[in-house]
Amino acid sequence: MRFDTRLVQLGQEPDRQYGDVVAAIHVSATFERRVQDPLAYFYGRGENPTREALERCLAALEDARFATAFSSGQAAATAVLSLLSPGQRLIASDDVYGGTYSLFTRLARYGISVDYVDLTDLGSLDAAVRDDVAMLWVETPTNPLFKVADLDRVCAYVRGRGIRVVVDNTVAGPALQQPLSLGADVSLYSTTKSIAGHSDVIGGALVYHDEELHNEFRSYRTVAGNVPGAFDCFLVHRGLKTLTLRTERQVGNAGRLVETLRSCDRAGKIHYPGLADHPQHAVAARQMRAPGSVFSFEYLGDPEKLLGRVRLYACAVSLGGVRSLIECPAVMTHAPIPRRTRLRLGISDNLIRVSAGIEDPADLAEDLRTAMEDR
Ligand SMILES: Cc1ncc(COP(=O)(O)O)c(C=O)c1O
Repeated sequence: MRFDTRLVQLGQEPDRQYGDVVAAIHVSATFERRVQDPLAYFYGRGENPTREALERCLAALEDARFATAFSSGQAAATAVLSLLSPGQRLIASDDVYGGTYSLFTRLARYGISVDYVDLTDLGSLDAAVRDDVAMLWVETPTNPLFKVADLDRVCAYVRGRGIRVVVDNTVAGPALQQPLSLGADVSLYSTTKSIAGHSDVIGGALVYHDEELHNEFRSYRTVAGNVPGAFDCFLVHRGLKTLTLRTERQVGNAGRLVETLRSCDRAGKIHYPGLADHPQHAVAARQMRAPGSVFSFEYLGDPEKLLGRVRLYACAVSLGGVRSLIECPAVMTHAPIPRRTRLRLGISDNLIRVSAGIEDPADLAEDLRTAMEDR
């Protein structure tokens, strides 16, 4: 069964009793167990049939053996971080999502160190790897600068060194990039983004092959309690069915908007892996099916005024949904990063990030072009 068929059908097998062609929403918090059967459902903080239906589909997205759904992308991240022990070190992409950065700042109190490395440069990775490194956290493309790490080479480099590779695949999404097939141990998703796709639910997921990891993630989730509710699982699963259709349209719209910006004299540097002059254009072309639906650019004017002038873009954080969004990372998504660090990384005060939705491309282009004009 190919990707698009799995999206629509897995976890949605017709119900034997009533014939439903959509997985039912099971809201029960507890399950009757007169006979002690270890396989039966027990309590909603453990397993739930609606969640399991979603997980069957999520695992199939990357041809993985397992997937575990969480109440948010950040909850999925905490489950991964729970694998680390005091004295161990984590290496992470140097411009990870601001919320990830904030989460990492809390690791020091558990005796875990974090090194930030430009993972587009294998030399920097080589210089950072030591015996205490237990995990490599790759975000690619990074957000908001859209740097692309060569997953094949990065995974090959750490193989055999006892380092687990976790790839935050939220920005590309599984329709465009498949980290497990390139050697990653775990793919992490904020399903809030392109997977659910309608900006109406918060969710997260981990996708992986290893059974030992599976037992760890499931038992962590049960005791930590960061489970997604049945209705949220239903929404994520419903959105998932149209992932490819939405992604194709969004990538097309992003390309059109980037072209529009190239002819605007108020647009400075544009960060988008689809551009031939992007430093990792060739890597992106090899490892991604398309360059993505999100991009950023330097606005040569007052960002606040630009955000106030757009009419069709919601000025909001998040990405990957059907509605187009615009934001200024310095004061929104990446505000938790200290200004000096942020500027060193290239996230300037006037960087603007756009997540292209599925609206008519001509409307989106016209609105952005008009808003870019300085009045
Ligand atoms: C790349 C990336 N990873 C993780 C997250 C966290 O996901 P959530 O908001 O679902 O917790 C986000 C949210 O914006 C993100 O952009």
